[in-house]
Amino acid sequence: MEKRVIKTADGSETLFNDEYGEAYHSTKAGAYTESLHKFVYPCRIPQLAKEKGYIRVLDVGFGLGYNVAVAIKEAVKSNPKVKLDIISIEKDKQIFEKINSLNIHTELENIYKQILKGNFGYLSLMNEKIEVYKSENENFSLKILFGEGRKLIKLLAEENYKFDAVFFDPFSPKVNTEMWTLELFRYIRKLIDRYGIFATYSASLAVRKGLIEAGFKIGLVEPVGRKSYSTVATIDGDIPPLTEKEEKRIKNSPYAVPYRDNQELTLSKEEIKKNWEDNIRLTF
Ligand SMILES: C[S@@+](CC[C@H](N)C(=O)[O-])C[C@H]1O[C@@H](n2cnc3c(N)ncnc32)[C@H](O)[C@@H]1O
Repeated sequence: MEKRVIKTADGSETLFNDEYGEAYHSTKAGAYTESLHKFVYPCRIPQLAKEKGYIRVLDVGFGLGYNVAVAIKEAVKSNPKVKLDIISIEKDKQIFEKINSLNIHTELENIYKQILKGNFGYLSLMNEKIEVYKSENENFSLKILFGEGRKLIKLLAEENYKFDAVFFDPFSPKVNTEMWTLELFRYIRKLIDRYGIFATYSASLAVRKGLIEAGFKIGLVEPVGRKSYSTVATIDGDIPPLTEKEEKRIKNSPYAVPYRDNQELTLSKEEIKKNWEDNIRLTF
């Protein structure tokens, strides 16, 4: 497996993924900076560490582990006694090889050492045997569930798991469409605590509309390394508001149509994308 390492704007390294034709992180914002400003701060991890001392995180798309590592770092900085319970979702079993090909940022080195000390086992979700990688120390327990993300999210919701923060970080809706549908967001809504916060880098109208139709209120997060604001969503939590301009765009733009899956979440990404494009054409 060829690994193309890219040095990002803040000096942290990421990789290019050939299957999706995208980098794992925004090279202009920087991998570390992106985790901090698009996921960890918007989900209020430092505040939760201080106020609650116990944080349940759902991390969708573990990838190179930056979001998880930066969340642990910031939470511990804010409260050295914090305990994070993290469940990550990932389909790619080669992530450890990929992580090992990077020069890890010095600030995150220790945390990665701890994360990489874990071992493989199994977990049962609704009587299904799921392959899991577990690692922990006094501040965190991390379980990476391996498999198709939609299926794992559905199983977690059926098992009534709840989370205070959701880092939603698949590749972009254009190439990873199956992970951005209204049907999947409905499961995420079941999984999130009433005051929990969902954060994603995406500024897509289809995604924003999907989140709203799934029952979330949404808000905007100041951009880093680009012009567009990223997105947060919650049921009743504290998030920055939508601007009037964006509210109008979501209401009036012909592109503000959610991606749709079937109820079993089994359509292919090509089918989901084609249905969406047909739908858009109808509204023009
Ligand atoms: C942009 S990367 C995530 C970067 C990561 N959050 C980080 O901080 O390094 C997206 C990840 O989502 C995973 N992914 C994409 N589609 C998936 C699916 N349908 N099920 C499970 N994982 C998926 C990819 O394998 C990839 O590792």
